[in-house]
Amino acid sequence: MHNDSSSLSGNAGRPIILLGCGGAAVCHEMRSFLATKEFNVIHVEYCPDVIGLDACHFPDLILMSSHKDCNGLDVCEKLQKNLFKRRPASVMIFGPPDDDLVDQAFAAGADEYISEPIHWNLLYYRINFLIQKRKAELELSDFAGRLEQTNRELKDFTYVVSHDLQEPLHLIRAFAERITGKSHSVLDEQGAMYLQRIEMAAGRMQSLIDGLLQYSRLTTQAQEFVPVDLTDIVREVISDLEVRIDRQKAKIIIGELGIIEADPLQMRQLFQNLVSNALKYSSCGQAPRVEVFPLPVPENADRGNICQVVVKDNGIGFDSRFQEKIFGLFQRLHGRDEYNGTGLGLAICKKIVERHGGSISARSASGQGAEFIVVLPLQQNKKG
Ligand SMILES: Nc1ncnc2c1ncn2[C@@H]1O[C@H](COP(=O)(O)OP(=O)(O)O)[C@@H](O)[C@H]1O
Ligand SMILES: [Mg+2]
Repeated sequence: MHNDSSSLSGNAGRPIILLGCGGAAVCHEMRSFLATKEFNVIHVEYCPDVIGLDACHFPDLILMSSHKDCNGLDVCEKLQKNLFKRRPASVMIFGPPDDDLVDQAFAAGADEYISEPIHWNLLYYRINFLIQKRKAELELSDFAGRLEQTNRELKDFTYVVSHDLQEPLHLIRAFAERITGKSHSVLDEQGAMYLQRIEMAAGRMQSLIDGLLQYSRLTTQAQEFVPVDLTDIVREVISDLEVRIDRQKAKIIIGELGIIEADPLQMRQLFQNLVSNALKYSSCGQAPRVEVFPLPVPENADRGNICQVVVKDNGIGFDSRFQEKIFGLFQRLHGRDEYNGTGLGLAICKKIVERHGGSISARSASGQGAEFIVVLPLQQNKKG
């Protein structure tokens, strides 16, 4: 059976040309010329025969005459309508140059034309160029297809796995709770300690699953983009974190951040994660100070189209070597004993800004606080 990839790359490296050309003198010349080159030529004298052959030989290029004995224009149009995924490049062969014919050829979907008297070298280079171009296009579209498929699988995988893990985990937690309630008195000290560790591990697993579900829902349950006042969003986030802010005696300073088109829930998630981190990774013995302010867009950058917001803290910071790594899934620089967490917060932030067509980066040095810079477009194309 013919395999899709055997054309272009396979077939002992010889590209296949389907030549639909009959009657005119140029057709014989064309056939002899192509035969002297490194092509595999399949020749039909009657142009409509090209249809059907294209599907079984997978040619890289179809050369079709527009002479009256073999008018390939209709065939070219039909090939386009076939929606044949691996449509080969097509070149029309004309008699003397004719503007109308040129228009018709391109309207019918031809990629190129060549007119008589034929400049054979030029024909050869055009054919080669089109074959290489088509090859690159096919490779790119194959790659994009594979990538899309992998992405879909990954999205389904994250969702399904995190969803399905909930149930056994609920059971573990429920039974652990029963033991704590009913049978606690029969446990010795070591048993009680084991039980406590089971509960803690199950709680941690619950946080991981919740985080993963949140991560996968960023695309599956995304909201429309609407005008969002980022200053309001950050104020809401601060208000949700009030108890913690009071407890840590933190000082929060918010600048005028502006209005952008965005998914409001996701903007909230974004700043919630960044501000929580700023509070969480604070230096001991020093009250946290968190600033959320706009950063002017440099003149040579995309001014008028983007905004930049910085979330800056005076906390423990991190080594600048890790400034990219921390945006990966489950990446944590600080141990669970010191700071609890899942390593998902910044991965969620990254996915949110990327879904909005923006970017996020971090700047820090150990012990010197951290800065997270979010760049977001002011406007979105409505698709989301
Ligand atoms: N403001 C910050 N200051 C210092 N380190 C930070 C800050 N924010 C994030 N980090 C580091 O990046 C890691 C990843 O952050 P995140 O994805 O939010 O996960 P989590 O907070 O659950 O650990 C954290 O574990 C921490 O090591
Ligand atoms: Mg976090």
